[in-house]
Amino acid sequence: MSETYDLIIENGICALPWGLEETSIGVRDGRIVALGVSASARAPTRIEARGLHVLPGLIDAHVHLRDPGDASVESIPTGTRAALLGGLTAVFDMPNTAPPVVDAERLAWKQAYIEGAAYCDMGIYVGATRENIPALANLEAGRGVCAIKVFAASSTGDLLIEDDATLARVMRAGRRRIAYHSEDEYRLRERRALFAAGEPYARHAEWRDPETAFLGTRRLMALARETGRPAHLVHVSTAEEFAYLGAFRDITTVEVLVNHLTQVAPDCYERLGAYAVMNPPLREARHVEAAWRAVRDGLVDSVGSDHAPHSRAAKARPWPETAAGLTGVQTLVPLMLDHVHHGRLSLLRLVDLLAAGPARVFGAVGKGRIAAGYDADFTLVDLGARRRIENAKMATPCGWTPFDGMTVTGWPVMTVLRGEVAMRDDEVLGAPRGRLVRFFS
Ligand code: DOR
Ligand code: ZN
Repeated sequence: MSETYDLIIENGICALPWGLEETSIGVRDGRIVALGVSASARAPTRIEARGLHVLPGLIDAHVHLRDPGDASVESIPTGTRAALLGGLTAVFDMPNTAPPVVDAERLAWKQAYIEGAAYCDMGIYVGATRENIPALANLEAGRGVCAIKVFAASSTGDLLIEDDATLARVMRAGRRRIAYHSEDEYRLRERRALFAAGEPYARHAEWRDPETAFLGTRRLMALARETGRPAHLVHVSTAEEFAYLGAFRDITTVEVLVNHLTQVAPDCYERLGAYAVMNPPLREARHVEAAWRAVRDGLVDSVGSDHAPHSRAAKARPWPETAAGLTGVQTLVPLMLDHVHHGRLSLLRLVDLLAAGPARVFGAVGKGRIAAGYDADFTLVDLGARRRIENAKMATPCGWTPFDGMTVTGWPVMTVLRGEVAMRDDEVLGAPRGRLVRFFS
């Protein structure tokens, strides 16, 4: 009697937690049940993966899907389709929607809406405000809540907690992981007067300068230490912060964005204008090099896209009214595979940053590893495929990517979501089957 499974993924080079191994994976009821499955095992569905690399389902733990908001820019259905096309099986969605996700009612709406509308699995951030601190203390981990998000500096939307006293109150309430947008709001306000409206888009990086980010991070780390509340710093972007954070790994985890690893100022502002404007800004080579060093040193826990779509009209406004934020959920994996191709990181480090890392930072249940008992989420990649990133191929309705025209080597050719093929050869298959990710409390 040979074993039977629902699905076998055969002969791929699999990124297992302990290394790359050519093996076959047996799946039953949406979960991984066995590795090293024999050729005689039976299954109604077999995926021949010879020549491909089989990665755990990759996760983008930092997206803004704008739902509720403006569906002509992005929505949960379109953004999660883009995620599948980009080789992701889960995204964690930020709360600065219109209206924002900051109370039980909006959270319940979003939880109910996701199951039925999302094409991949999702986590939800709940935004911190001055008013909701007691409620944040009682946030439960079940039903998709990955973390609390604090905007310590103003960005898109009006979520903001800039002062130490209120930040400390948030840190003292409850126990869930808090993700911080770390820039110093006071320095931003002070320095705004140094620049005139309509100046070149490159001024964005001078206004929101490295000291603005570093000061924000020093303040947050001091408060995290004082209160003992673990932090997750999203989109760390300066050489000074990377050098500083080595001494804070007992209290914080660190995210870097693919944009900060890929785009270099001032060239990016000259090429892209407003399509290089985001917060924190794209910076000069010394910061990009420091970000790569931090990836290599193991300081960085996860890489995200900070997918932040805006309409072309909102982008076209003169600086500083131009909308800050760049799309990226569909290009995160291709760009990171291209970095692997160029020898900037190994494939296993990519998996650590895009699967195991986010799963560990947020405590995602059953995600981020190819191992028995874990969800049967897989990203199959062809490391040799050369493809062009183009605006016309973007599933996000606003219709642009800052990487339009770039050719990359390495491409996600299939995503499997809890045992079923969800994307194959740049095509999304079937109805929305996304579910809320569960998190350990
Ligand atoms: O550039 C950004 N865009 N940074 C943020 O912090 C928010 C995001 C957005 O929502 O547009
Ligand atoms: Zn963001």
